[in-house]
Amino acid sequence: MEEFLAQHRRTHSCGELRSSDEGAQVVLTGWVHSRRDHGGRIFIDLRDRAGLTQVVFGPDIDADAHREADRLRSEYCIGVVGRVRLRTASGGQPNPKLPTGEIEVEAYRLHVFSRADTPPFLIEDNIDTREEIRLRYRYLDLRRPALQRNFILRSQLYRAARDYLHSHGFLELETPFMVKYTPGGARNFLVPSRLNPGRFYALAESPQIFKQLFMVAGMDRYFQIVRCFRDEDLRMDRQPEFTQIDVEMSFVTEDDVLSAMEGLVQAIWRGTLGVELQVPFLRMSYAEAMARYGEDKPDLRNPLLLTDVTDVVRQHGGGGVPLFERTLSEDGIVKLLRVPAEQAQRLSNTEVRKLEDAVRGMGGAGLGSARLDPAGQGEDIAWTQSPFAKVISAPLRQAIHRAAGAGPGDLLLFQVGRPKVVNTVLAGLRHQLGQRLDLIERGSWRFLWVTGFPLFERSEQGQWVAAHHPFTSPRPEHVPLLETDPGAVQARAYDLVLNGHEIAGGSIRIHQREVQAKVFAVLGLTEQDIRAKFGFLLEAFRYGPPPHGGIAFGLDRLVMLLCGADSLRDVIAFPKTQHGVDLMTECPTEVSPSQLDELAICLKTKTT
Ligand code: AMO
Repeated sequence: MEEFLAQHRRTHSCGELRSSDEGAQVVLTGWVHSRRDHGGRIFIDLRDRAGLTQVVFGPDIDADAHREADRLRSEYCIGVVGRVRLRTASGGQPNPKLPTGEIEVEAYRLHVFSRADTPPFLIEDNIDTREEIRLRYRYLDLRRPALQRNFILRSQLYRAARDYLHSHGFLELETPFMVKYTPGGARNFLVPSRLNPGRFYALAESPQIFKQLFMVAGMDRYFQIVRCFRDEDLRMDRQPEFTQIDVEMSFVTEDDVLSAMEGLVQAIWRGTLGVELQVPFLRMSYAEAMARYGEDKPDLRNPLLLTDVTDVVRQHGGGGVPLFERTLSEDGIVKLLRVPAEQAQRLSNTEVRKLEDAVRGMGGAGLGSARLDPAGQGEDIAWTQSPFAKVISAPLRQAIHRAAGAGPGDLLLFQVGRPKVVNTVLAGLRHQLGQRLDLIERGSWRFLWVTGFPLFERSEQGQWVAAHHPFTSPRPEHVPLLETDPGAVQARAYDLVLNGHEIAGGSIRIHQREVQAKVFAVLGLTEQDIRAKFGFLLEAFRYGPPPHGGIAFGLDRLVMLLCGADSLRDVIAFPKTQHGVDLMTECPTEVSPSQLDELAICLKTKTT
């Protein structure tokens, strides 16, 4: 093996040779993708991460190499020396599907670096092998061209991001992974300290505090492509360890951060897809996003919209609909999703009734619907197929049509009750119908900055908790509200949403001690709590902190969207399953009693 590599240096990748290379002597290395025997000749598709090249062995080309080639099997790792010829020159057909399809390499030397057992699945795209098997043999799965393309793009993304940030004055700095545990935010993984028995580090859920300390330290502009760890329930777009492009800037306003980041996103799209994005991106307030889409990360490719008709219904005293009257008396809201006539006619009444099951699955009690008579004209269009049709007053019906911009043939889907459930259900229906009716615009990148988030939200126990993190600055004009009406305080926070995914989030931070103290007071933290949890940060803030703000991008989500992948698992090289397990190395594992002893840990047997 040594000898082959010492004598022959690889000349090309397997995706490189073209008809213009005819006659060149080449050295290729790679894996046997497929092998065919045709009338005494052996054809190999040789694969590396750049592509496939057809290699031919024949007794007339080189008898030894041909004999050797007879023993080749799928996934053998080999090197060949040969000459490029046109496929047509030897009576073959060009393969227009392959970039190297016009040529082949006639091989006069073959070297097998290593043999392969029969792989548990074919190294091909569009295979339907179970994901568990693919994850168990991840290194084979990663040989598949589709996955390799994802990781090539991921690498291009790192480069584009680093180039942009370096050329815009950002310093690339590192922060610790093993950090102090601070409650709130995402749940942390804990790491026992052998040297300090009974004490634990937390794995950093983000570099948040450290990047703020960099600003105090005068680093001015920081970035890091950094791993973060969160012990969350996992979904297709969540992994327990994931990567952020983390950024912090001093002496900035929201506009400075947003426009710098638009430049970063442009650089990423240019460097990976060669696409030129238009900036500035659209901006929308949190309130508007919730009103029109029922969520704070709307997919703007979907044209369906919601309308809140609570006020209209109130003005009409419930309009004779008992459900509406009851909702108003319970301080609930009435909201609807309008499906325009053209799409509504593609939904049968049975299908609309079936949506009710989906609604229950999303936590709703039921679904009220109404079709506007397709033959209706003018203001007074009757409702058909509706539980409200008989009782609703004509003035309320007309007012609802005006509010929602509804016309003949449209379908209205109503939800009533607590805003949270109503919005969740209608946002869910909007997604479902957008897919079902094929309304999602293909191939477009719909970016949206969502701003004006509330600073606090209520926990399940009814306490105020920070909606982002406790260092997020309130809008200056809302500072007085901290003492009187915390729920109305808006944060200087922003999220970047792309096609319905939150791809980044950040804020301008608090740099004044007095404001920070007021925020801590709303969160119900005592002096002692504050000192124990964030003492070091507050102490640092006594030494002239600059005004600063920042953001973090979910890098894996960016790659997932850029690649058109459905799951983060297709863009993270060695991902965990939904249960947080690495099937290849079989981790997490149990550890020996002596290891536990060393860490002063005693396991409690689970009783449930
Ligand atoms: P945040 O918690 O919003 O902000 O995270 C920033 C971005 O990281 C991505 N993300 C994830 N990606 C994959 N798996 C996960 N489990 C996961 N969790 C989050 C999302 C998200 O928008 N320190 C702040 C940022 C700041 O304020 O500067 C932070 O971490 O795309």
